[in-house]
Amino acid sequence: MVHLHPIKHWRNKHNKNKRAKDKSTDSVNTLAFSTTGVYGSRYAVDELPRNHMGKNEMPPNVAYKLITDELALDSKPILNLASFCTTYMEPEADRLMAESINKNFIDYEEYPATCDLQNRCVAMIGHLFNVPESEDEEPMGVTTVGSSEAIMLAVLAMKKKWQNRRKEQGKDYSKPNMVMGANVQVCWEKAARYFEIEEKYVYCTEDRYILDPKEAVDLVDENTIGICVILGSTYTGEYEDAFTVDKLLQEKNKAQGLECPIHIDAASGGFVAPFVNPDLVWDFRLPTVVSINASGHKYGLVYPGIGVAIWRSKEYLPKELIFNINYLGADQASFTLNFSKGASNVIALYYQLVRLGFDGYRAIMMNLTNDADYLADELEEQGKWTIMSARGVDGLPLVAFRLKDKHNFDEYDIAKELRQRQWVVPAYTMAPKAQSLKLLRIVLREDFTRSRCDLFLRDLNASYKHLASLSKEQVEGVRQGENSREQTAAHGRKPHHAGPDKHGSKHAHSLQGKYGKTHGVC
Ligand SMILES: Cc1ncc(COP(=O)(O)O)c(C=O)c1O
Repeated sequence: MVHLHPIKHWRNKHNKNKRAKDKSTDSVNTLAFSTTGVYGSRYAVDELPRNHMGKNEMPPNVAYKLITDELALDSKPILNLASFCTTYMEPEADRLMAESINKNFIDYEEYPATCDLQNRCVAMIGHLFNVPESEDEEPMGVTTVGSSEAIMLAVLAMKKKWQNRRKEQGKDYSKPNMVMGANVQVCWEKAARYFEIEEKYVYCTEDRYILDPKEAVDLVDENTIGICVILGSTYTGEYEDAFTVDKLLQEKNKAQGLECPIHIDAASGGFVAPFVNPDLVWDFRLPTVVSINASGHKYGLVYPGIGVAIWRSKEYLPKELIFNINYLGADQASFTLNFSKGASNVIALYYQLVRLGFDGYRAIMMNLTNDADYLADELEEQGKWTIMSARGVDGLPLVAFRLKDKHNFDEYDIAKELRQRQWVVPAYTMAPKAQSLKLLRIVLREDFTRSRCDLFLRDLNASYKHLASLSKEQVEGVRQGENSREQTAAHGRKPHHAGPDKHGSKHAHSLQGKYGKTHGVC
């Protein structure tokens, strides 16, 4: 049987002009849905709220689809060779994380099993970093949102400990300083600024991209709360020489009656060196090393954000920084910058530690180290590049490199060409006083296999060839085109081709402001 059905003139009710007027009322009743789905609904022709919340609700499937559509503009995490942060975990880990996404880690009383997993992670990592086993030292640790929070806590502890000692000695405790390489990650500059500590920098040179141990120890004086030594410089992945800094510092401390400690920033190297280079002595085996941070979300192989801070003994955690709070029915000792945080990353870190064990981490880190060497060798063989990162187990599995000769194009142009082929590779300038050097950096993460090395090399060569075929004017033309496109996309903000962001010049307090320091992506 055929029904004769009336055709409604919806246009009469919802004509264009009316719809334009209706926009502000945001009526969800007005053609909220259409049988053609999301793209036939009014939401496909309305702007997604940007500055103010919309008045009405939106169906979940529509919100989901429109947001995923916008996110399609992001790069693919697997092709993001800029970041140290984990982009792949096994499906079982994903499941564990999804199942615990609704737990607040801070509710220890309610989630005692989760709390116990963090304690196991802290203990395992502490032992990995060779915490002292003696009876009189009681090592402590805490999980954090990342290395930045862990570093803030460690810096606070060093500052407080130094102040307490100065007070006991009846000495001035108003001018604390901290010694570090100018290649530090920006969180060190933040810590110095936020906690009012003077920064004493050891600068890089055109052929030394990390801290010089002697220069560092020479800068130490009675007001130095500690020296930062980086296990895996963000710029080139090289390990700073903690062994020599410790040796020189022990001598200086003894000779001058100082008690200056070392903090090791093992954000990336903490989960690499112990597995591939166990004989490298960089951790609590060195007497002046009092605290270490590491990022669980880098080579700890967990999605962001999780980090860890470990102290060699309770003695280095001044009591006044620890809050004993009674919350939701239990006494808790708390030393963190924030309160609530998700529990799923902590659980995922435990998963990785038990799932992989020492041998599993070692296998992954060895593969990455070998692939990094392969990539560096291939690049070197081409004769066009200078490798700036360390080889083998002497540094992180990354390749930092720059153009050997002068061309009409530079490393920033190469990065842009690669971006058109979907690879995200950062170009940046070296740390202050070596900033005339521009470089590119490829971070090898767990999911970067040998065949992807080859695909990357193919595209890098194609990018190089294309740029080499252009005249100076053509390269300039491409840059200008890109700049104006970027400017439009950035709504008038200044694009940053070739060189440091000049916005930095407004910030006289930072290395970016003073020297145009560019911070490598983490
Ligand atoms: C050496 C170093 N320290 C600290 C950080 C900050 O780590 P997070 O991103 O975990 O806060 C990074 C980031 O890459 C780093 O490379």
